[in-house]
Amino acid sequence: MNRSRYLASALSLRCNSRHFASSRGKMDFREKMLWSKLKSTFRDSPPAPSPASSAAAPKHFLNLNIIGTTRYPKLYSTSCSSLRCSHQRLCPYLVPRRPQQFHQDQRRTCHSWTSSFSERETVSGAVTKLMEKFEKEDIPESDVSAEYIVAHVLGVRQLSEFARIDQSRILSTEERSRVMELASQKLARVPMQYILGEWDFRDLTLKMKAPVFIPRPETEMLVDLLVSYYEEDDELDILEVGCGSGAIGLSLLHEFQKAHVTALDASRDAVMLTQENASRLGVSNRLSVHHTTLTDESPLRIHSKYGTRYDVIVSNPPYLFTRDMDDLGPEILRNEDPMALDAGAEGMDVIKAIVKHARFLLKPRGFIWLETDTRHHQMIQEWLVEHPAFSVQFNDSFLDFTDRTRFCQLQYAP
Ligand SMILES: C[S@@+](CC[C@H](N)C(=O)[O-])C[C@H]1O[C@@H](n2cnc3c(N)ncnc32)[C@H](O)[C@@H]1O
Repeated sequence: MNRSRYLASALSLRCNSRHFASSRGKMDFREKMLWSKLKSTFRDSPPAPSPASSAAAPKHFLNLNIIGTTRYPKLYSTSCSSLRCSHQRLCPYLVPRRPQQFHQDQRRTCHSWTSSFSERETVSGAVTKLMEKFEKEDIPESDVSAEYIVAHVLGVRQLSEFARIDQSRILSTEERSRVMELASQKLARVPMQYILGEWDFRDLTLKMKAPVFIPRPETEMLVDLLVSYYEEDDELDILEVGCGSGAIGLSLLHEFQKAHVTALDASRDAVMLTQENASRLGVSNRLSVHHTTLTDESPLRIHSKYGTRYDVIVSNPPYLFTRDMDDLGPEILRNEDPMALDAGAEGMDVIKAIVKHARFLLKPRGFIWLETDTRHHQMIQEWLVEHPAFSVQFNDSFLDFTDRTRFCQLQYAP
């Protein structure tokens, strides 16, 4: 993958919001979005991944498959041979599996990693042994997972740096037992993000802790949309519904130095993790986090509790259809909070709650920015037509890297 190829791929990124450019009379919205994506991608000039090894691929482009999901930016699917690409499925979290695999996974509880390494085990030898074991046990991305584990134990944060360390170095006893310990977790289908305890989202490194939802790469695009739409020094009052680890809200605070974010989550673990990540990043003074479940009831109570009206509501809410929950990969099913995923029969429970609250929470003409399933945009539009009393209009849909409508902008229009 070289820069010009990335550029060509990135230029194929389309969003059907052409009228923004003319109506706002400033930089073309699509250009701004592309520019922002390119800027953040090349900020650190990551080394190009070679077809033979995914070791040098930028970390954030690899993380999706490691947690057992099926979506990756199209542009990397040809150069990272280890990445499987599926465009057939509608939902990013669903994993195509061989019919028998799920039941085998369920029977497989916690593996004990008994085959010990030799006392003179080298870095490359350990990687190879893990890789072989993972392959045998049908662990997705066996090569990258093996490298991540050994790199982590050696204190190397990026796989690109790992490729540069002496592969013939002999592991110490402590290092060997730590590698085996982490490998056992991987064999028990613990996502790599939880094993490592941290993961990158855009420019931030966030602490990860089960069962709080692991941020997915496509959600970076939701942040990109806002970064492209607003000015850097806009004094935005932002409400995030369902903050999880804080990925979206903290990224927005990082990008908009004058913004304030109020974040809600129905999970106490998520609230605590967002607070911890905020304090690690030094942005706690512009963030307030609340343990609150946004439901159909008491919108006025929520309004009076936070006492302000927001310019923006942003959310990557739970949006899976309940019937799709069974199709989730074992990494997700066994480790991530189902409340972060399951949003009722139509996957719309939390989306509807957000829309119902909008007129109490947003300033007039304020926006709701959502990540959704690709089926939802049509459903949301129809539902809004049936419910004019909410005074919310559907403005636009935006595509993800696989050309599916995944993000939308709604507006409170009293
Ligand atoms: C898909 S996760 C997104 C987390 C994070 N924003 C991200 O993108 O990584 C959805 C989050 O919404 C929270 N949640 C689910 N239902 C909720 C509700 N009714 N009110 C507030 N938060 C809710 C979940 O606990 C979970 O943390």
